[in-house]
Amino acid sequence: RPAPLVDQFQRRITYLRLSVTDRCDLRCTYCMPERMQFLPRKDVLSLEELHELSLGFIARGIRKIRLTGGEPLVRRDMMELVQALGRTIGASGDRGGLDELTLTTNGTRLAEFADGLVEAGVRRVNVSLDTLDRDTFVRLARRDSLPQVLEGLRAARAAGLAVKLNVVALKGVNEAEIPEIIGWAHAQGHEVTLIEVMPLGEIEEDRFDHYLPLVAVREGLEQRWTLTPSAHRTGGPARYFDVAETGGRLGLITPLTNNFCDGCNRIRVTATGQLFACLGGTEQVDLRAALRGDDPQALLGDALDTAMRIKPQRHAFAITQPGAAPALSRHMSMTGG
Ligand code: GTP
Ligand code: 5AD
Ligand code: SF4
Repeated sequence: RPAPLVDQFQRRITYLRLSVTDRCDLRCTYCMPERMQFLPRKDVLSLEELHELSLGFIARGIRKIRLTGGEPLVRRDMMELVQALGRTIGASGDRGGLDELTLTTNGTRLAEFADGLVEAGVRRVNVSLDTLDRDTFVRLARRDSLPQVLEGLRAARAAGLAVKLNVVALKGVNEAEIPEIIGWAHAQGHEVTLIEVMPLGEIEEDRFDHYLPLVAVREGLEQRWTLTPSAHRTGGPARYFDVAETGGRLGLITPLTNNFCDGCNRIRVTATGQLFACLGGTEQVDLRAALRGDDPQALLGDALDTAMRIKPQRHAFAITQPGAAPALSRHMSMTGG
């Protein structure tokens, strides 16, 4: 039986974030410029390659796959991959199977796909939504798509999908609205996770201007609500709190103010098959070359061993002064976060 994935810091890797496209129908200002240069389509892995790759990972002990983008639901054959991977959920035997198949989406097309996702075995999704105000949405995402996202959330609820809203906390943009978003989401039965903005890729504004440390946000929320640390874990980077007054759950993702790399269980692969052992790293391993070589499963095995050797101990993101260059030139939409 193939060896499990363990890095040199004895971290067991069980969670794969697989980007199926770098394209997106929104242009969130913290994520990408308006005129984003996307990858040439010919370089992107085919459906069959994504499937084969995923099975190779599952054989090495990956138990959770999160499909990401860009926006995963803009890829035309995306649901075929969801269906194929859904069939591995709970499978036992030599190759093993997934415990969880999920995705992170901006929600614009969720209304169309919510039922199909549930049928394929998806139980929960993370939906990126930074504001409930239509003008702020347009300012942030540069597209007037809030109504579609809200429609998508309604469809997800109707289909029985659990939803967690991802809210990137942005000073002077959605800062004042954060309690309202949490209150609204909890009333709908959704969880919320607040995220500190990370300095990946050139954008058209200075991330320093909008960077909001979550320590401050949490103190503000504690003026109003009782937050109790929760033992809830998803295998992702968030640390959770129960909010007594709303009865809902709040996650905090604090790459800048409270590093969580000690417990990292994740790797990510771009839509062109480049493995990044860390979101904050630049070293990559070419899985597409392995897949297109003469003995794909053997080459893939070697590539994953290499990935375990190069996975760094932690990322070194910081936003400390105005005008600083991003920590990495790569945009978040390449690796899906
Ligand atoms: P759950 O399975 O619900 O825990 O989801 P998740 O938090 O793993 O996934 P999601 O795609 O919702 O990501 C939320 C945020 O966490 C995004 O901004 C990601 O970029 C960020 N994130 C996920 N993994 C890492 C990581 O290893 N390092 C850093 N710095 N950020 C991460
Ligand atoms: N910093 C933090 N989060 C980001 N996301 C996109 N770009 C950034 C960034 N620079 C978030 C999206 C989505 C998740 C996958 O990553 O809002 O919810
Ligand atoms: Fe698209 Fe997500 Fe980036 Fe927004 S954050 S532009 S929705 S990939």
